[in-house]
Amino acid sequence: RSLVSSTQTSSITTMEEENVGTVKQQLAELFKISLKDTLPEDITAEPLIEASGGKFGSDYQCNNAMSLWSRLKGKSSKFKGPPAVGQAIKASLPESEMIESTSVAGPGFVNIVLSKKWIAESIQNMLKKGIKIWAPRLNVKRAVVDFSSPNIAKEMHVGHLRSTIIGDTLARMLEFSNVEVLRRNHVGDWGTQFGMLIEYLFEEFPNWEEIGEQAIGDLQVFYKKSKQRFDEDPDFKEKAQQAVVSLQGSKDENDRYRKAWTKICEISRKEFQQVYERLKVDLEERGESFYNPHIAGVLKGLEGLIEESQGAQVISIKGKNIPLIVVKSDGGYNYASTDLTALWYRLNIEKAEWIIYVTDVGQQMHFEMVFSAAKLAGWLPADEKLCPYPKTNHVGFGLVLGDDGKRFRTRSSEVVRLVDLLDEAKLRSKLALEERGRAAEWTEEELDETAEAVGYGAVKYADLKNNRLTNYTFSFDQMLSDKGNTAVYLLYAHARICSIIRKSGRDLEELKMTGTIVLDHVDERGLGLHLLQFAEVVEDACTNLLPNVLCEYLYNLSENFTKFYSNCQVVGSEEETSRLLLCEATAVVMRKCFHLLGIEPVYKL
Ligand code: ARG
Repeated sequence: RSLVSSTQTSSITTMEEENVGTVKQQLAELFKISLKDTLPEDITAEPLIEASGGKFGSDYQCNNAMSLWSRLKGKSSKFKGPPAVGQAIKASLPESEMIESTSVAGPGFVNIVLSKKWIAESIQNMLKKGIKIWAPRLNVKRAVVDFSSPNIAKEMHVGHLRSTIIGDTLARMLEFSNVEVLRRNHVGDWGTQFGMLIEYLFEEFPNWEEIGEQAIGDLQVFYKKSKQRFDEDPDFKEKAQQAVVSLQGSKDENDRYRKAWTKICEISRKEFQQVYERLKVDLEERGESFYNPHIAGVLKGLEGLIEESQGAQVISIKGKNIPLIVVKSDGGYNYASTDLTALWYRLNIEKAEWIIYVTDVGQQMHFEMVFSAAKLAGWLPADEKLCPYPKTNHVGFGLVLGDDGKRFRTRSSEVVRLVDLLDEAKLRSKLALEERGRAAEWTEEELDETAEAVGYGAVKYADLKNNRLTNYTFSFDQMLSDKGNTAVYLLYAHARICSIIRKSGRDLEELKMTGTIVLDHVDERGLGLHLLQFAEVVEDACTNLLPNVLCEYLYNLSENFTKFYSNCQVVGSEEETSRLLLCEATAVVMRKCFHLLGIEPVYKL
């Protein structure tokens, strides 16, 4: 046994300690030792390990030699060129059960072939202890994910749907990586729109305190009507502006502006909640109004940075043409005052180390300015290389387009309502199931649950599989197709694996404890290695905030499985036990991927 892995396995007590880290991290531990032995004392280097995807017949490679050579040149006569550095690194590598063989290629790459026995044992260990032991280890204890964040009384549009889906996935991946995540819905509940909404409520419903929500009806219609009044009638406009001042200045929960505001927020909240429940997204509302009482104090702390410009209070940001306005010329606060204060709160009160904002790319500039101001204020480290935490990221995303290549709208060019969209996804997937004759086999409840899982899963996956920065075209036909890279295809693939296992009639719980996985066939090994790379893919998707990386992994997993299944007989073969375990491991990893993407797995389809 190698020194490294035996010290790691001997101290096992809790689940988290059983987590040995990704393959990359484990290899890095070995290469750290070899680099230390290879290099003169005054030169240090972090191992550069990368999956090689089968290049040169290897699984991983260590890429340090080239860059080290340029640092070693002239300093040490021991090395005659990059290949020699690679050879030396290879020679000093401690022995390990992980590695089958190593070789040096090209300008000093150290190629690594993993031991198939070790791959098999690692998978078996995961099956016994659960996929938790493959969770990535991130250096963060607490993070805020600020996502969804629609505006009260305004429409919750597909942009908010994207934010909800992407933000939920990022939160799930971080949670799986043992990070405590504060899921924050930064709803727009404090804007100037409330003046007209409140005035319109007073005017239209003199008995507004007694009426139920139904009386107000559709809040978006209500919004439009009040906006119309605002634009047409100067008296109304005047009153509305006064109402904002009264609302924002009010300290009394019981005054009528506050109460009207609460009522309007309550209606919106119920509508949002319907979407979250359908999508099974968990979120805590912490709207703009929450930070309002802290704004004055936070700005006071920034006095040295704030200057006056055309009557407004601003912070100048190097490299930006316009400053960040923190108090408007009329003395009111704005979006930026709230975001600056929210950031302060999250860093200082909530002690988050990583704060992630999920909005369309259109808001990139706003966040860049807020983050720069926070650096100037000393809330965030000035140099991320020296001090990586706390840190902030804006996770931007592109537009959702319709067939016509323009912004996604309904035929009558209205904004698409999310509930309608989800209804249609469910309906269409239910029809597809009925076409397959499932209505005769299943109960109505089963049919409904499956239609929801498939329909909503399809909507989410179609969004997540693209690089989030690109615009994508919304198409029910495409996302609900059972061919190609879609949730439907993947859910079928998973259900098929479950059925192979079920039909074998073997007790998998028992096999997990007594059976052994053997990876002799190339396609068994290929599938096994892909399974083992799950943790580093999730780590990559988390650190780069790119859910599409996980989608790609999942799709490739199902392709690898198909290859294995068409070339290796499972049931009735000599290798039945081992191969069933491989099927089970594939199903477990697929389900975890679904879970991280917010998709409900289906066991029968
Ligand atoms: N309510 C905003 C919108 O609909 C998004 C808020 C995003 N979060 C934030 N902290 N600014 O565009």
